[in-house]
Amino acid sequence: MRKKLIAGNWKMFKTNSEALQLANQVKIKTTEISKTKIVMCPPFTALAAVADVVRGTKIGVGAQNLYWEKEGAFTAEISAGMIKSTGAAYVIIGHSERRQYFGETDATVNKRLISALENGLTAIVCVGETLNEREANVTRDVVGKQIRGAFNGITASDFSQIIVAYEPVWAIGTGKTATPDQAQEVHAYLRQVMADEKGREIAESLQILYGGSVKPENASELLSQKDIDGALVGGACLNADSFGAIIHSAEAL
Ligand code: PGA
Repeated sequence: MRKKLIAGNWKMFKTNSEALQLANQVKIKTTEISKTKIVMCPPFTALAAVADVVRGTKIGVGAQNLYWEKEGAFTAEISAGMIKSTGAAYVIIGHSERRQYFGETDATVNKRLISALENGLTAIVCVGETLNEREANVTRDVVGKQIRGAFNGITASDFSQIIVAYEPVWAIGTGKTATPDQAQEVHAYLRQVMADEKGREIAESLQILYGGSVKPENASELLSQKDIDGALVGGACLNADSFGAIIHSAEAL
């Protein structure tokens, strides 16, 4: 049985004092949670502070990106080793906002993933189609290509450190959620691609999260789909009440 995982992508929100407050509130609201894994992904500036707050709890901390070089003259970039040194154990890779605004490609996603794995971080690899692509009926082609590109050369033993997030671009921050059926269909397809590429065992154990306007009101229905193993939450993770409610919906399933 795959466990549920609820991850919060804070994006470019929260100063350090706000981050400490939110992390503490989430910690208090989730003391009873035992089955569901929780991960908070604050901005780089708050990683160490948030990691300190949740140390000793079951809450994990993740970064939202990394650069694949170990170190060097790469002004403003952050390496996997630096992330690890803050106490974070996760990293989001290939979020659609990175692809859209910062030129990330399947090839750079792959390089980032390799670096995350080499440094012992667990990667949350994001894929998803735009509205134009969905309307042109090419969703499967798009997410299939993204996932094959991301996992190029990645071997079976690495998959214990890999999570996938399906995030339709048209559902991110728009209030438009994929229906549970629409999401389930793509999740099942991604699992099929994984079975074809890496084998049935890896496909069956891989956690595939859904992301895109997940809220307390729609979380339970999405999370009860067979191939949806959790959520990557943006807007609703910035408030401890709504993030906590989503976590409790997962726990109740
Ligand atoms: P949203 O963002 O929940 O605000 O739609 C999700 C994401 O971008 O990970």
